Amino acid sequence: MSQDELSFDEHDERINPRAEETDFDRVVESALSRRGFLGGVMTFGLGSFLVGTTALTRDSVAMQISPDRFGFAQVAANVEDTITVPEGFTWEPVVQWGDPLWSDVPEFDDATRGTAASQARAFGDNNDGMSIFTKNGRTVMAINNEYTNRKIIWGNRPEGKPAEADDIEKGMMAHGVSVFEVARDDAGNWQVVKDSDLNRRITPRSEMDLTGPAAGHDLMKTDADPSGTKSLGTWNNCGNGETPWGTYLTCEENFNGYFSAADEAHEVSAELKRYGVSSKDWGYGWAKVDDRFDVAKNPNEPNRAGYVVEIDPFDPTATPKKRTALGRFKHENAAVVIAANGKAVVYLGDDERGEFLYKFVSAGIYSATGDNSDLLAEGDLFVAKFHDDMRGEWLALTPDTTGMSDAEIRIHTRQAASKVGATTMDRPEWVAVNPTRAEVHVALTNNKNRGKKPNAGGDDTSVNGPNPRVGNNYGQIARWMPDNEDHTATGFAWDLFALAGNPEVHSDAYAGSENINAGNMFNAPDGMAFDQTGLLWIQTDGKYSNEGDFAGMGNNQMLCGDTVTGEIRRFLVGPKECEVTGICWSPDRRTMFVGIQHPGEKGNSHFPRGGTSVPRSGVFAIRREDGGLIG
Ligand code: FEO
Ligand code: CA
Ligand code: CA
Repeated sequence: MSQDELSFDEHDERINPRAEETDFDRVVESALSRRGFLGGVMTFGLGSFLVGTTALTRDSVAMQISPDRFGFAQVAANVEDTITVPEGFTWEPVVQWGDPLWSDVPEFDDATRGTAASQARAFGDNNDGMSIFTKNGRTVMAINNEYTNRKIIWGNRPEGKPAEADDIEKGMMAHGVSVFEVARDDAGNWQVVKDSDLNRRITPRSEMDLTGPAAGHDLMKTDADPSGTKSLGTWNNCGNGETPWGTYLTCEENFNGYFSAADEAHEVSAELKRYGVSSKDWGYGWAKVDDRFDVAKNPNEPNRAGYVVEIDPFDPTATPKKRTALGRFKHENAAVVIAANGKAVVYLGDDERGEFLYKFVSAGIYSATGDNSDLLAEGDLFVAKFHDDMRGEWLALTPDTTGMSDAEIRIHTRQAASKVGATTMDRPEWVAVNPTRAEVHVALTNNKNRGKKPNAGGDDTSVNGPNPRVGNNYGQIARWMPDNEDHTATGFAWDLFALAGNPEVHSDAYAGSENINAGNMFNAPDGMAFDQTGLLWIQTDGKYSNEGDFAGMGNNQMLCGDTVTGEIRRFLVGPKECEVTGICWSPDRRTMFVGIQHPGEKGNSHFPRGGTSVPRSGVFAIRREDGGLIG
């Protein structure tokens, strides 16, 4: 995600500066040894991971399929303040920040940008991950509202800062999850069904159950909840997941930036520091309206955030469940797949420089006809270790391997993963599971500290297999194939699907892999999902300067990748200063919903309404003009 001025982890770094620990000898040695294991055929970085030459693609079905599965012509990069889609496609808005979900709520007002009361019953801000569900002929969307751009939501106030408590509360109510029914109008356009009995706003004040190994542990207890089994609300909901049993998973990412202490001299614990919690928040001011967010007064409150939360989208009265079994970190998304033995497997990334990639395997077995409501309550948690021979393994996080209790492992998951020597990654963003073959992709968005600084736990971040570039400013997409096509297997083979880069500016590893060219180049892959045909849709949250290292890349965008042939083609360009994030399809696959987050985060967009209007994040429906399938 982006932030008004500093990215979340840049902010964390400023507050918790870590020692420069550049060991160039070690970096170079590692790079050279990589050249060795890759056979010495290619120069390091450039063609080393050439798609089509590895174990993952050797037995591909490439020969049996059409040479062009995309069905659209590439869109050129641009810096327009609009959405650009290929010829033969259309787009239209579905819902935007501040749109009422009930008819007694006033429409969005550019002059005031709403109140806490209106925002609490309107679509939240900065939509991110989203899913669509159908049942009994009704269609519901569940959409994360990750954060709010303070200078925009408070843009009607002096210096863009909250002028009264209601402003702070309005910012809080812009966070969480929006659940609402949608239907098509007479023109075929998707609309929010206002006043539907399925509509619901979940906010940082909604009651949730804490479930799993950490529930009830002393670290989870607060004065307001001595049982440690209830928590209030969810915030900074980034990517998402959905289960085969029809529930929505919302993932708490940069939960730390909302805590502060009235006593700025307060020193937070080392455990909280690992997660970036400090006595200064990011300008949201929540501790000013609720002591819960004052970490000096309530040091355990941050332990109750940083989880995956399971929501029943068809029961607005159901209490959301925080799934501590899936670990606590800066969760990006939750990619669910049912393994051959019936266990639910969830792949999970921790989006911070040098943090890790995880896998949860349920204790119970999925039943297509039975009750799966507690399947994510208990199970085993693993963290990925990538070896330089293009093999990897899932290391179990257990009391034996970590010396921590099972509850502590699920609360201080980063520390547990450091103890077992997991592979530090270049900010794991979305994980996507291919529905047509046993392969999983992860977007590793970028990591300027790679090879330069340890992670927040002090772990070495020298270049390694899937993270091969020092000061990685472009990002890459790694993938793995579980042994025996079994998602519960502990072993896997891996390679890189793409190294993003700029072949117009660089001729070394920073030019990118061979499937990156002047026509399709991009930086910072982030959102990612497979469609039902096995095409991989890639959304970016990168630098949009269109200059220097990023010249020719234009605004943030969405591309489509063929993971069999390696080809990548740009499908969509977003408006100015946005991030493209969140994707799902209508049940008939004739509409693709795409999220546009924080257009104009630096003040230079009026998307989508134009003129002098306030820019607004939103969800957009993309269709083929001929009404054909799209994904
Ligand atoms: Fe919310 Fe890692 O992006
Ligand atoms: Ca991001
Ligand atoms: Ca993201």
